[in-house]
Amino acid sequence: MNLVPASVSDFRLGAERRLPRTLFDYVDGGAGAEVTLKDNVADFEKLRLGQRVLRDISNTSTEIELLGEKLSMPVILAPIGMGGMMARRAEVQAKRVADSMGIPFTLSTMAICPIEEVAAVSQVPMWFQLYMFRDRGIVLEMLERAAAHGVTKLVFTVDLNVVGTRYRDIRNGLFGGTDFWGKLRSGFIDYALHPRWALDVGVKGGPHKFGNIAKYSPAANALPDYAAWVQSQLDASVNWDDIAWLRTHWSGELILKGILDPNDALQAQAVGADAVVVSNHGGRQLDGVASGAEMLPRVADAVGAALPLIVDGGIRSGQDVVKALALGARAVMIGRPWIFSLAAHGEAGLRQLLKVFKGDMNTALGLSGFPQASKVDRSALLEK
Ligand code: FNR
Repeated sequence: MNLVPASVSDFRLGAERRLPRTLFDYVDGGAGAEVTLKDNVADFEKLRLGQRVLRDISNTSTEIELLGEKLSMPVILAPIGMGGMMARRAEVQAKRVADSMGIPFTLSTMAICPIEEVAAVSQVPMWFQLYMFRDRGIVLEMLERAAAHGVTKLVFTVDLNVVGTRYRDIRNGLFGGTDFWGKLRSGFIDYALHPRWALDVGVKGGPHKFGNIAKYSPAANALPDYAAWVQSQLDASVNWDDIAWLRTHWSGELILKGILDPNDALQAQAVGADAVVVSNHGGRQLDGVASGAEMLPRVADAVGAALPLIVDGGIRSGQDVVKALALGARAVMIGRPWIFSLAAHGEAGLRQLLKVFKGDMNTALGLSGFPQASKVDRSALLEK
C-alpha cells in the first residue's frame, strides 16, 4: 500500500482493496471484451507531446473559460451512476471537493444522492446529467427540479437508450440473475470481506436509493428494483426530434454527451446544443467503437471553433488533459479516476488526485511550450 497515492493506478488499487468485488467491477469494467475501454486509455497514452525549452514558463496557467464559467483547470467530474455505493454519500463529497478546487461536478440521474441533497452543499451550481425517459412528464419534472436548484448546465446523455452488455456485471449477478448461492457470494460474503466499506457505506451511507428517481418508482426498495425501473423507462425510440423538443423546454446550456461521429456533432450544433461531450461512455456501451482520442480531431475539424467540445474516456493524468486540448477539446471529463479516489481515500483522496492532475498539467503546459491551457493547439503534439 502506498503511503501517499499519486496516480490514478494507485487510487484504482486502493479502491479495489476497499470495495466489494461486484461494485469494483461495476466501476472498473466496460462492455463486451473491453476493447474500447482499453483503447480509451491506450490512445491517449500513445500520443506524444512536443518538448520546447527556454521560453520563460514562470507563469503557466491551467485556467480556462467554458460556457461562461471560469474553471481553475479544464477538468469536469463526469456523471457516475451509483456513486454513493462506492463511498459514503459520494456525490456530496465530490461536490465539496469540486467546489474547493474550482471545477464543475456533474450529478448523474442515477446518483445515490438526490439533486436536493447535493444542492445543499453550496451555492455553486452543479452540472446535471439526464437521460430521456419514456414518461416525458418525469423528464420535465427533472428539468424543473434541476433549474430550481441552480443548474444551468444540462448534460443530456444520448448513448444509453439501450444498455451495453457488461460481462463482469453479468458474471457477478450485479442486478440479479444469479441463484441463491450466487447472491450469497456476490452479496453477503463479498460485503463481509470488505468491512471498512460495509461500515462506511453499507451501515452509515444510506439511504441506498437512486435518490433522483426514487419518487417515481415508489415500489422499488432495493438497487436491482431501481435498475429494472430505469431499464423499463429508457426510451430506444429517442431521436433528434426529441432533442429539439428538449431544447424548447430547457433554457440553460444544453450539452449532449455521447457524440462520437462528426456528422452527429454537426447535427447537435444544428439542433441547438451549446456543447458536446465526445464520448463512448467510458467503453461501457458499444464495445469496438473508436476512442475519444481517435474521434476528437475529426469532430473538431467538422465543427470548428463554434461548438465547444469536451472529451472523456481514458483521461488518466494532467498530460492526457493537455493532449486532449491539443486534439481540439476545451475541457475533459474524468469518470473512474474520481470515483476510485473517493472510494479509496474519501475527500482527501479526490483532492489529492486533482492536485496531482493540476501539477502534471502545469508541467506539461510549461515544457510543451504552451504555458496557457486556453491557447494549446494541435502543434503541441508531435505529428506522426
Ligand atoms: C458512468 N458514466 C455515466 N455517464 C452518464 O452520462 N450517466 C451515468 O449515470 C453514468 N454512470 C457511470 C457509472 C460508472 C461506474 C462509470 C465508470 C461511468 C460514464 C461517465 O460519465 C464517463 O463518460 C466515463 O466514465 C469516462 O471514462 P473514464 O474517465 O471513466 O475512462
